[in-house]
Formats: sequence, C-alpha cells, structure tokens
Amino acid sequence: MRIGAVTIFPEMFRAITDYGVTSRAVSEGLLQLETVNPRAFTADRHRTVDDRPYGGGPGMVMKPEPLEAALDSAVDAVGGSARVVYLSPQGRLLDQSLVEALAEEPALVLLSGRYEGVDERVIEARVDDEISIGDYVLSGGELASMVLVDAVVRQIPGVLGHSQSAAEDSFADGLLDCPHYTRPERFHDRPVPEVLLQGDHERIRRWRLKASLERTLARRPDLLEGRVLSKEEQELLAE
Ligand code: ADE
Repeated sequence: MRIGAVTIFPEMFRAITDYGVTSRAVSEGLLQLETVNPRAFTADRHRTVDDRPYGGGPGMVMKPEPLEAALDSAVDAVGGSARVVYLSPQGRLLDQSLVEALAEEPALVLLSGRYEGVDERVIEARVDDEISIGDYVLSGGELASMVLVDAVVRQIPGVLGHSQSAAEDSFADGLLDCPHYTRPERFHDRPVPEVLLQGDHERIRRWRLKASLERTLARRPDLLEGRVLSKEEQELLAE
C-alpha cells in the first residue's frame, strides 16, 4: 500500500517507519510512506503555512494554497489516484470496519492539520473523507494519521506473521480480546487458568470465546448491540 502524509512535522512519522510491525512493512515493501511538507510550497522568507482566521478569534488557520499544492504532490507521489483523508475531531469516528475498508485502497493521502485547523475550502475541494480517532482534541493530526496507518497496515496481507494474523486481533470478530498469560504459572499467588495448561485446543478456543464475550458484555455492551450472537456464543454466555 502507498500512503502519502501531508504534514509540517514529517520527522514525527519516524515513529511508524522506524519501529515494530510498521517498520517491517516498510522494509519488506508492503508499505510505502511518502511525507510531503506544505512549507515546501510557500514562496515567502518565513515559509508561512498559517494565517489569522477571518471573523477573528484565537488561533491560526492553515492557509489553503500550500496545503493544496502539498496534497497534489502527495497524490502524485503515491501514483496519481488516492483517497484523501483529513484527520480531525469533526470527522467520522474511526473503527475497525472503517480500518478494514481503508485497507482495501491501493493508496491513501493523509492530511494532518495543526493550529485551529485548515481552511475549509481545501477540505471541500480535495478531501474525500474526514476521520476522527476519538472524541478528544489532539494538538495536531499527525498522531491521528499514524494511528490510522498502524491500524490499516496490520490488515495488509503478509504484514503480520502467521502466528499473529489480523483475524485474531481484538475487534476482528466484533468482540474485545480475551486475557493472555505466559510463564510463570503462578505470579503474585495468581495461577494461570487451568484450561490453558492442558493442551485441549477445542476447550481453549471455547474458554477464550467465552472470556471475550463476558468482557465485551461487562466493558463495552454497545459493541454487542448490532451484533447477532451465534448459538455457541449464546450457550457460552448462559453457562
Ligand atoms: N486532530 C486533532 N484531534 C484529532 C482527533 N481526535 N482525531 C483526528 N484528528 C485530530
């Protein structure tokens, strides 16, 4: 997948290009990440990318011309056609089903805003989707863009090893993840649940599914609202 990131802080994206699963995706050619800095598309001595808001009020707004030029350059850099996403608290909430849909795209361009936001006319003219990563306000879109990239890249076939496939992720089946344990068998007087020590894979699968269901019901009952429980899931919950 090709991703273009429009940002005045391109170095921040080293958090995904230099570490962990996303870094491996880059070195294996499964993810190509190009950053484009709107400051490169300014003509003044100070490389100004922001200006005061019409109508007054606090804060600054990102100017449309450098952003538009940077977006066009980023779209070119990822092959000429890409879904353009603006990260902002006003956007549609990111969830696993949106992550899976975005992972089907061959190319994305992610626009990270700073200051109070970007001139609305850039959004109208160039942005396909406005996406929020949660109901809180960050100081800029970069961390949100990186959250989106990380979640999307996990879905690309070959990025996760066999033992950690995305199908096993929490949320892949609409449920929270079950608890996990490793050695030692006792820790602060707490034993590992007996069933996990016995090697009966069918019993372990059922124990994990039941734990996921119970957790989801206790912590995030909203996730179960639109979801039809299978016969097995109903039985496990009733046990
Ligand atoms: N930029 C600032 N806050 C954000 C949020 N919650 N989601 C996406 N982009 C943002």
